Amino acid sequence: MLDPRSDDARRVEGLWWVLFWISCAVVAVVTGFLLAAVRRRRAELHSEDDIDEDDIDRRPVPWGDRFVVIAGAAIPGGILAGSFAFSLVVLNDMGSVDDRPLEVEVVGHTWWWEVRYPNGAVTANEIRIPVGETVQLALPTADVIHSFWVPELQVKKDHIPGADNQLSVVADHAGRFRGQCAEFCGLQHAHMEILVVAMPADEFDDWVEREAEPAAEPQGAAAEDGRRIFERASCAGCHTIRGTSAEGTLGPDLTHLADRETLGAGVVRLTPESLAAFITDPQDDKPGVSMPPTELTPDQVDAVVAYLTELE
Ligand code: CUA
Repeated sequence: MLDPRSDDARRVEGLWWVLFWISCAVVAVVTGFLLAAVRRRRAELHSEDDIDEDDIDRRPVPWGDRFVVIAGAAIPGGILAGSFAFSLVVLNDMGSVDDRPLEVEVVGHTWWWEVRYPNGAVTANEIRIPVGETVQLALPTADVIHSFWVPELQVKKDHIPGADNQLSVVADHAGRFRGQCAEFCGLQHAHMEILVVAMPADEFDDWVEREAEPAAEPQGAAAEDGRRIFERASCAGCHTIRGTSAEGTLGPDLTHLADRETLGAGVVRLTPESLAAFITDPQDDKPGVSMPPTELTPDQVDAVVAYLTELE
């Protein structure tokens, strides 16, 4: 969070430090008064042998009530009002949007993210964006409340059922920024990661164009078998592979699965081995996830993996 990678992130970081030092000063002053009060009371208790405790409490307070009003109400009120005004100024400066930002829809699901681009490209758990350009994210949810949070880009907003939440994001240099669902959404909330990859604009254009294309035709007998099995088995009931008869919408779109770095929203790195294990029993990697253990034989799983790993 204190390693900002965008203008908005730097504004929030500035605000964060101001509030941090104000808080430190308040803690120091209050602790000072507390210690002074303890010391004074002790000194008084020890100076007179037959002191009546009630008398101490009825004694006039030094500086009178005015001190209480100033130190107890006016100064805290001033600090809070000042911090509030400064926060408003910073928030008002944030989210300045280009005339025609790239609009990307990020749909929260239990427990993964669906990412939809205007040209028809659909992916999951990884958002690629062009460096230096404003990207307007729409944040609907397919089920419960999730929260989209990428600390280095200082963007965080909830996906709320029925609400039209929007968020604009700009990365000022290329890089990979890890994000995480920040609203408890059930058993696998902790395994609901998202990766934001900021790339040069021309590379992004090539990527998003490729991502919108239908899936590659299978190469070789194993992959052809794999595609046939995928279409006939229950896989196709939940997953879409554009260009095939698999058009399910419950799980992530797998049209360009081999392009992605992880499986199960960051739960394991994507390799042929981890993919085979995930298909065989997803409950092992991600207990509670909607995908059931497979009904396929190990040979059929291998064929499906051979097909899926070709889908770049
Ligand atoms: Cu989604 Cu927590």
